[in-house]
Amino acid sequence: MLSSSHLVFFPFFILIIHFSSLLILSLSESDYTRPDKYFIACGSKSNVTTNERQSFVGDRAHPPFFLSPGRSKAIITDETSNDMSSLYKTARVIETPSSYELEVDQDGTYMVRLHFHSFPSEFNLSEAFFDVLASGYSLLSNFSVRTQSVEEFLLPIKKGKFKLYFQPSQNSLLAFVNAIEVFLVPEEDLLPKSAQLITLDGTKGIQSDLISLVYRTIHRINVGGKTVTPESDFLWRTWLQDDGFLIKPEAAKKSQYYDGTLKFLPGGSTKYSAPEYVYRTGRELNVQADFSKATWAFPVSKSANKHLVRVHLCDIIGKALSVFDFTLFIYNKLERTIDAYDDIGNLQSPFHLDYVVDTNGSGFINISIGLVASNNWSSVPNAYLNGVEIFEIERTSSIAVFESPLKQNGSVIGFGSFVAFLVIIGMLISVLMVLKSKTAKFKRYAFQFLYEGMSSDRPKIDKVEWALRREGFEDTTTSTKTSLDDDDGSKYGDNDSNTSSTQFST
Ligand SMILES: *[C@@H]1O[C@H](CO)[C@@H](O)[C@H](O)[C@H]1NC(C)=O
Ligand SMILES: *[C@@H]1O[C@H](CO)[C@@H](O)[C@H](O)[C@H]1NC(C)=O
Ligand SMILES: *[C@@H]1O[C@H](CO)[C@@H](O)[C@H](O)[C@H]1NC(C)=O
Ligand SMILES: *[C@@H]1O[C@H](CO)[C@@H](O)[C@H](O)[C@H]1NC(C)=O
Ligand SMILES: *[C@@H]1O[C@H](CO)[C@@H](O)[C@H](O)[C@H]1NC(C)=O
Repeated sequence: MLSSSHLVFFPFFILIIHFSSLLILSLSESDYTRPDKYFIACGSKSNVTTNERQSFVGDRAHPPFFLSPGRSKAIITDETSNDMSSLYKTARVIETPSSYELEVDQDGTYMVRLHFHSFPSEFNLSEAFFDVLASGYSLLSNFSVRTQSVEEFLLPIKKGKFKLYFQPSQNSLLAFVNAIEVFLVPEEDLLPKSAQLITLDGTKGIQSDLISLVYRTIHRINVGGKTVTPESDFLWRTWLQDDGFLIKPEAAKKSQYYDGTLKFLPGGSTKYSAPEYVYRTGRELNVQADFSKATWAFPVSKSANKHLVRVHLCDIIGKALSVFDFTLFIYNKLERTIDAYDDIGNLQSPFHLDYVVDTNGSGFINISIGLVASNNWSSVPNAYLNGVEIFEIERTSSIAVFESPLKQNGSVIGFGSFVAFLVIIGMLISVLMVLKSKTAKFKRYAFQFLYEGMSSDRPKIDKVEWALRREGFEDTTTSTKTSLDDDDGSKYGDNDSNTSSTQFST
């Protein structure tokens, strides 16, 4: 029986339930708004707008961020080709370690997209080999660009200062970048909290805590459709065609384009997961020609640790719900029965499945769709695939943070705690070597670093800090600071050779 006090609280209780359900509603996808910063056109004096995209702020147009000290220079191409994005007509060439320092106002998962286009200039940009680091994480190491490349990462960023740090690799004189995007994404639409683990030796498990990892986009594929350009994707992603990855092209044909309404259901994909176009196009088995299986092979790095694989599905070929099911394979290790009825509950309803795939050594992630034998009750057995995303999961242990400087000094990396010891020894040797030619100030920083690196109870110093200390950047008295305004005028699009020689004397 309810006491009187219960009776008093009961309406409140209802109210609380009511409000919390409102809260849950309001926290769902609708509360994500696309941020308007940070989109940076490097080396540009004016703001750049490309097609219907976000406007990019020129890093010399009084931007709302800070470009750290370090020798860098804005360059501009004289190429006048119209089909080249205006983002790729300017670049910032970086000769000594420099960072873009952004102010992030919310914890969350961020997309970091870096654009590189190596155009002819006074520098040979194809000869640049460089590292890119983000506060605490190594994003690219000894990276180089033949012609053009867009590198994309998803990473957890905490509210506060976020530094994106560029440094030429050893033996290289320059780094460069044409444009930078850093923006918050709706993480629950892009990343699963956990996913089934698939290993080549067949061991099974669940990988959890996936939100806290760092991802590099390797493949983003619109199966059976045309390339989707950034203007057509809510998060400005590019989705490429699958033709080059399908091992036997005749095994799977393009499905008929679906132009009806897609039914977005709870538990399935959202408009942020992939553009509708990805789900409206797809491939199905060429059953008329007796193909019962089709395989796509996606090249991945042999040295990569693990990948997150997202398979996008939407039954646009079934004439009725549950007239067939089929099997999704990853290598021959995963065999998952797909049934639109069980998996999402309706036809034309986009959904996706996530797997963490161990790829050590094989160099490919192979994804197949195939008929299931038990389907012979169905008059129209088939199988389909609409999209694939593959992300490399970056190593982010504290050891990895120290990996790159060591590698640059030619040392060998091993595993376990012994590595930590080697790291210290390696650094000691390199520090001693460098000390001969450097100042007493450097000595102070180097030893401070070694001391802090060895005492295990201190928070780890990230590589960026280390590199900054190595350069003496944190010391405000070393006045190598160049403000953005300093490089205005003479250096911008100006072929005056004496300015470049004074800027780049070594
Ligand atoms: C570029 O855009 C930023 C941010 O919108 C603005 O503050 C700045 O004044 C603009 N600069 C120019 C040169 O238009
Ligand atoms: C730039 O460097 C690349 C790689 O070393 C070389 O193949 C190319 O010829 C160079 N281009 C120019 C214009 O010097
Ligand atoms: C994946 O496909 C590639 C390319 O066809 C092939 O060489 C490789 O053996 C396949 N790997 C596995 C594990 O099936
Ligand atoms: C098809 O079904 C029949 C019975 O309905 C069964 O005997 C046969 O093995 C099935 N074929 C396949 C390929 O599974
Ligand atoms: C970077 O890559 C180039 C070309 O692959 C190689 O020659 C060079 O030794 C590498 N440098 C470092 C520091 O790993």
